[in-house]
Amino acid sequence: IKKIGVLTSGGDSPGMNAAIRSVVRACAYYNVDCMGIYRGYQGMIEGDFKEMGPRSVHNIVNKGGTILKSARSKEFMTPEGRAKAFENLKEAGIEALVVIGGDGSFTGAEIFNREYHVPVIGIPGTIDNDIYGTSHTLGYDTALNTVVEVIDKIRDTASSHNRLFFVEVMGRDAGHIALNTGIGAGAEEILIPEEDLGLERLLESLRRSKLSGKSSSIVVVAEGDKIGKNVFELKDYVEQNLPEYDVRVSVLGHMQRGGSPSCFDRVLASRLGVKAVESLLEGKSNYMVGLMNDKVNLTPLEQAIKGHTEIDLELLRVSDIMTT
Ligand code: F6P
Repeated sequence: IKKIGVLTSGGDSPGMNAAIRSVVRACAYYNVDCMGIYRGYQGMIEGDFKEMGPRSVHNIVNKGGTILKSARSKEFMTPEGRAKAFENLKEAGIEALVVIGGDGSFTGAEIFNREYHVPVIGIPGTIDNDIYGTSHTLGYDTALNTVVEVIDKIRDTASSHNRLFFVEVMGRDAGHIALNTGIGAGAEEILIPEEDLGLERLLESLRRSKLSGKSSSIVVVAEGDKIGKNVFELKDYVEQNLPEYDVRVSVLGHMQRGGSPSCFDRVLASRLGVKAVESLLEGKSNYMVGLMNDKVNLTPLEQAIKGHTEIDLELLRVSDIMTT
């Protein structure tokens, strides 16, 4: 392989820049050309490429977002779009790909590989931590720290006004962010899609909390929670059933995807980028690089996409005990 293309695709996450830097520098280390592909698969379709040398990625290890930009390309889902993308890769001499993104991006990579046999390695980049084959996706640790910091601030005002806050966090269909930040920030209850605790239990827990003399309450709600009510409906429901509570809602939203990556994410990005390039140079394809028991390993892309990341329900038990 003489030239590797690198792209970021799907929702961005802190650490993507550190991963781009790692791929670019590993390529330089092994004397392989590296081409940055802008706006994910959309840039592949439009031939939006730029040569990247080791100095082109200086000063980005600490930057949030992605210098290559990201997109969710509808056109790449069509055979015509993928044909255009392949033509552009051929013309630019790009012989292999490193795709930094989540399961949607990996699905695109897999289909493209099946059709055009361009070797591909995936690096899991999403704050949701919902990809099988890695204990941590890139950006997850940073998002946890961002969310905990914000909930601490919400706690200050909640406590001054004796209020209950429902704080909605991201995670798509997974509750990893909610469960871990809920414990980290000392939430009274944590609502996650993986476990339906029911509305009655929520009311009961809030009643107990009031009786025990607590002056403020935080309930962390995962955006994909299946309790049947969104955060605003939950507010109304609790106010109707427990009028003693003054309730507010805070939806944290996209700020969870921004910011300078944590040291953990920078190190993870550096390790995964090197392994991705080395794997391609060893002739491997259709794998995702990930972290398991602090070792970098490879998981077939298909498994990474379809596999289920188990949430540690033991954490819910710990959370219960912490709210005693
Ligand atoms: O996958 C990352 C994520 O931030 C999810 O947590 C969230 O559900 C989704 O992306 C939001 O997507 P968009 O940026 O398209 O609003």
